[in-house]
Amino acid sequence: MGIILCGGTIVTATDYYKADVRIEGEKVVAIGKGIALSEDIIVDVRGSLLFPGGVDVHTHFDLPVGNTVTADDFASGTKGAIIGGTTTIIDYATQCKGETLKEALENWHLKAKGNCYGDYGFHMAITDWNDRVAEEISWLSQSAGVTSIKLYMAYKNVLQVDDDILFQALARSRQYGVLVCVHCENGDMIYNLVNQYRRQGLITPNYHPVSRPIIAEEEAVTRIIALAQVTKSSVYIVHISSSDALQVVMKAKAKGNQVYAETCPQYLVLDENYYTRAGFESAKYVMSPPLRKKTNQDFLWQGLQNRMIDVVATDHCSFNFLGQKDVGLHDFSKIPNGIPGAQNRLGILYTYGVLTGKIDLHTFVNVTATQPAKIFGLFPRKGTIAVGSDADIVVWDVNDTSLIGAEKQHHKVDYTPYEGFQQKGKAVHVFLRGRHIVRDAKLCDIDPQGIYLPRTPIG
Ligand code: URP
Ligand code: ZN
Repeated sequence: MGIILCGGTIVTATDYYKADVRIEGEKVVAIGKGIALSEDIIVDVRGSLLFPGGVDVHTHFDLPVGNTVTADDFASGTKGAIIGGTTTIIDYATQCKGETLKEALENWHLKAKGNCYGDYGFHMAITDWNDRVAEEISWLSQSAGVTSIKLYMAYKNVLQVDDDILFQALARSRQYGVLVCVHCENGDMIYNLVNQYRRQGLITPNYHPVSRPIIAEEEAVTRIIALAQVTKSSVYIVHISSSDALQVVMKAKAKGNQVYAETCPQYLVLDENYYTRAGFESAKYVMSPPLRKKTNQDFLWQGLQNRMIDVVATDHCSFNFLGQKDVGLHDFSKIPNGIPGAQNRLGILYTYGVLTGKIDLHTFVNVTATQPAKIFGLFPRKGTIAVGSDADIVVWDVNDTSLIGAEKQHHKVDYTPYEGFQQKGKAVHVFLRGRHIVRDAKLCDIDPQGIYLPRTPIG
């Protein structure tokens, strides 16, 4: 017995056409007309768009940060994600100082296993590079199914690595088909600016963005591209927030360097005015890189439409306003960095990108599903609707209008940065490997069904 999604319009990164989809077991087995068998279950999706399940390749669930841990764990993180139409996430397993990569990865498997509502993979964020860790890169890619790592050029004395390590890690990763993702901000510059403001008693959250200027991002992007060029490596730049940083990427792409660029919904629809909110409210928007001037947004949208930006991911890294963000009430540098958003990615991109004409539907699918799946070694199993692919399908009701609000989200955090934003369209049904997980926009399978996705070496 199969399932027929009947009467919808399929949208992929390249195609837009009316057809029925037949699902059997975990896979799409036929697309066309007259494909139903007599015993099939028919799901009427007339009038809806069918998107491939979203792939969010930048999340931080159950991540310890300082003396706290992110508000969302894998259960609440992936629950919100799948209700919003994202069926696959790749989370940053993060090495603690002194840990081997094997220990760090085991730790992340324990957090995720049996708790995920969507499928999941891991990148490995390396914070303590040494010879033993360098040796483990081959194991990571060849035995553990983790074919991307992350290095931070910011967060001095915590996560930051220097150019020597960046060089070694790029060279080593290239040998084993591992893609290096990089957080690009000049951590030393930021460290000095932060201390300068603190010494002057300037400790409110609005000093967060001024201590992390665009030049800190632009310089770090320039530097990592230079290091990647010399080591002949590909590099993936996470959360680009500014037109200056994107221009550096565009020049490198034009030269033929293999540089991938990611941005996030927050940099497309929120801007630095949120830091002028009264009282401590602006702590809700403390993230790194920070929100920028609105003028950056059009350039980022154009970057998506002209395929200079490859991926939109969320960098979901949530902390409650009350009880977590407020540790920085008297020192902005102590506010844990990050915001929630996995549930809202498709809705924001569709409403403020597709419906405003800033991006077309194919770009929408490309940056939310197809490219992330391709870049991180999951395509064509994930990231498209095609015969043989996993039946991860979002049925998108184009007629729905709603308001985003904290009380409606399935994440376990006490606010949303998109409070009061209007959303048009919604994921009315979501299928994960053929299982009907979201029905009428509600979770209908309450048991987490997500599985680990080991990935093969890249490139
Ligand atoms: O503010 C952010 N982005 N927090 C999450 C960690 C990171 O920098 O990616
Ligand atoms: Zn991040």
